Amino acid sequence: MKIKEAAKILNTTTKTLRFYESKGLITPEKDENNQYRIYTEYDLYRINTILALREIGVSVEEIKTLLNNPNLSMSQYLDIQRSALFEQWIEMRDMIETIDQMLDSGSNSVDNIHQLANHLKNLKEIRSKWQDRWNFDDQAMDYDENIKKEGHVFNVHEGYDEALATVEEKVHIQAEDIVLDIGIGTGNLGSRFLKKEAHVIGVDQSEKMLEICKGKHPEIETRKGHFLALPLLDHSVDAIVSSYALHHLPDEEKLLALIEMTRVLKSNGQICIADLMFENQANRKKVLEAYQEAGNQVAIEVIHDEYFADKSILANWLSENGYQVEIIQFNDILGLIYAKKY
Ligand SMILES: C[S@@+](CC[C@H](N)C(=O)[O-])C[C@H]1O[C@@H](n2cnc3c(N)ncnc32)[C@H](O)[C@@H]1O
Repeated sequence: MKIKEAAKILNTTTKTLRFYESKGLITPEKDENNQYRIYTEYDLYRINTILALREIGVSVEEIKTLLNNPNLSMSQYLDIQRSALFEQWIEMRDMIETIDQMLDSGSNSVDNIHQLANHLKNLKEIRSKWQDRWNFDDQAMDYDENIKKEGHVFNVHEGYDEALATVEEKVHIQAEDIVLDIGIGTGNLGSRFLKKEAHVIGVDQSEKMLEICKGKHPEIETRKGHFLALPLLDHSVDAIVSSYALHHLPDEEKLLALIEMTRVLKSNGQICIADLMFENQANRKKVLEAYQEAGNQVAIEVIHDEYFADKSILANWLSENGYQVEIIQFNDILGLIYAKKY
């Protein structure tokens, strides 16, 4: 079919179709006799995809990269795009909230406005600073095999099974409840809720982890995302679980992560986090001293390389923000926090 007809069917303009052609997104053949463009079914399908992606904010350059990348499926790409949009959305929300606070503070209080702007700047920096220093994409394939529960000088996975089983036991759900597992990795925790007939959504920043998780548990809905920008709408999940993931966030980010969890959790929702954490600062000091005395440098290095939480800070924040909190400590470094909104 000719360009006018194609534009009409696709509810777009001939100018748009020529623009996509000039950018190399489509290459309709030309009639040998009159050089008119001929649009095939395949062209129409491709243009429809382009129009759909433009509608959700993908740039022409990004579309070109996507269409030329045979390794990236459309659903993988959409997942990445959703994650990016949630990050932008949360940043916009912070900006709007800051404007509201600036207006509330009164136009003559310039210092206050500067303070609020600085606070916003810090927030943006914290949100954008996180990097995967551990390269979880590379770890994904052998992750399950590498969880050795014994035989290490310093064994962070001692108590792993017990911790995951306790999360499963603590979180009460009903069939069809939505359970979100953040930092789901290969799905070892989230999958436990499948047998309770929950709808499990696994969020992870590592696409490879999500791939492995999906391969092991096709029923889990996987979404690319981050603790600080969860790819979910407000008050949309019944329970949030997480294991061995939060300790990759520095302490200042952990509280932002709790705020973000609260955003997506329904009223009466539950949060259960099993992770590497100390009872409190005094306990951290004591445990580190004990490793020092025992000459266990590996333990000291691992603890300094990651961000084992101070459980008391997390529990206090949750108590002050409308949760009923219960804590468990499995051993010196592994703890659990269960919090129910009331
Ligand atoms: C040690 S693995 C734990 C995986 C799984 N939860 C388990 O218990 O076996 C940590 C996982 O958290 C993810 N992760 C780390 N930091 C994250 C962040 N800021 N946002 C989302 N996922 C994160 C990693 O990609 C990785 O899959």
